[in-house]
Amino acid sequence: MAIVLSVETSCDESAVALVSLEHGEFHLHANEISSQVEEHSKWGGVVPEIASRRHLEALPFLIDRALSNSGLEIDQITAVASTVTPGLTGSLLIGSITGRTLASLHQKPFLGIHHLEGHLASIYLSEEVPKPPYMVLLVSGGHSELIKVEENQKFTRLGRSHDDAAGEAFDKVARLLGLSYPGGPEIQKVAEFGDARKFSFPKGRVSKPGGGFYPYDFSFSGLKTAVLRKIQSIESQNQALPIKDIAASFENVVAEVLVERSLNCVLDHGLNSLVMVGGVAANRRLRAMMKKACAAKSINISLAPMEFCTDNAAMIGAAALLRLSSGNVKSSLELGVSARWPMAEINSLYKSNPPF
Ligand code: KG4
Ligand code: ZN
Repeated sequence: MAIVLSVETSCDESAVALVSLEHGEFHLHANEISSQVEEHSKWGGVVPEIASRRHLEALPFLIDRALSNSGLEIDQITAVASTVTPGLTGSLLIGSITGRTLASLHQKPFLGIHHLEGHLASIYLSEEVPKPPYMVLLVSGGHSELIKVEENQKFTRLGRSHDDAAGEAFDKVARLLGLSYPGGPEIQKVAEFGDARKFSFPKGRVSKPGGGFYPYDFSFSGLKTAVLRKIQSIESQNQALPIKDIAASFENVVAEVLVERSLNCVLDHGLNSLVMVGGVAANRRLRAMMKKACAAKSINISLAPMEFCTDNAAMIGAAALLRLSSGNVKSSLELGVSARWPMAEINSLYKSNPPF
C-alpha cells in the first residue's frame, strides 16, 4: 500500500490530506481544509499577501491534525506531494517548502503536482472511476478547459477559455449583483428561486482568424458585460434589481454553454465518457443539466464528488499516487514553484533537472 501526505496551497484554501492506494482502490485517511474565504470576502477577492500568511499559519496545525486523526505516523508514508503550479506564487511557495522540508527530513520522495492534474484526479475519489480514454470538463476559478485523458497521464487540451474562466465569471457577476465572494455558491443560492428564462444572455463564441468559430473554446467576458449592461439599464429606470432572475438566467446560460461544447467535444473525438471536475462542477444546475444531456446522447458521465470539486489536498494526493503507481517517479528537491505551467510539459516536473 502506498500512502501520500499531500499539501495544497495554490490559492485560498490551506489543505493537507493522507491518501492511500491499494489494489487500485483509493482510501482517504485524512482530509483537512482551512478555508480563508471569510477573510478574503471582506476584500471582494483573494489578497495574495494575506493568503500566503494564512497558509503559513495553518499548515503545521493541519499536518498535525491529519496525522493524529488518521492514526498514521509520518514514517508510514510513502511520499510527500505539494502543488507547485499553477497558482499564486507566494502561496504555492509555502506548500512547496513545507512538502520539500518534510520529504527531506523523513527521507521520503517528493512529488511536485500540477494543480490541474490534481483536479483531474479528483474523479478517482468517487465511486465510479472511468477508464481512459475520456474527456474532462475542468471548470474552476482559474480555468475552463476540455482535456482528453489517456493512459499514463497523457493530457491533451482541446478547449479553453480565451478570457475569464467560468468560476471567475460567477465571481464577477456575483459582485455586480452585490453578492459576496466566492460568487459561485452565492449565485447558486439565489438562482434557485429565480426565473432562468427571464433574461437572454449571450453564449460567447471565439472567432477563428480565417472565419468560423473554435468549436470547444469559451469566452465569458462578453457575458459578464451583458449582465452589467442589463443591471445598469434596470437601475437607470429606478426599478428594483431582480437579482434572483438575473442570477438564474446567468447560471443557466453558463451551464448551457458548458454542456453543449463538452458534448460536441466528446462526440467529435469518438469518445463516450465525460468527467466534470473543478469548483464550478459543484454547481447543482450544471450537474443536473450535464447528466440529462449526457443521458440523451448515451454518454457516460462522472461528476467529481461535491466535496472534492473545490480545492482540496485529497485530489493532489490522488494525482501523486497515480504517478507513483506508474513508476518510480519523483521530483527534484530543487523544484520550485511557477504561477503557470502548460500541462503539455507536465512530465518535466519529474526530471532531475527541474524546469523552475
Ligand atoms: O477549483 P476551485 O476551488 O479553485 C480554483 O482552482 O480556481 O474553484 C473555485 C471557483 C470559484 O470561482 C467559485 O465561485 C466556483 O469555483 N464555485 C462555484 C460553485 N462553488 C464554487 N461556481 C458555481 N457554482 C457553485 N456551486
Ligand atoms: Zn483549483
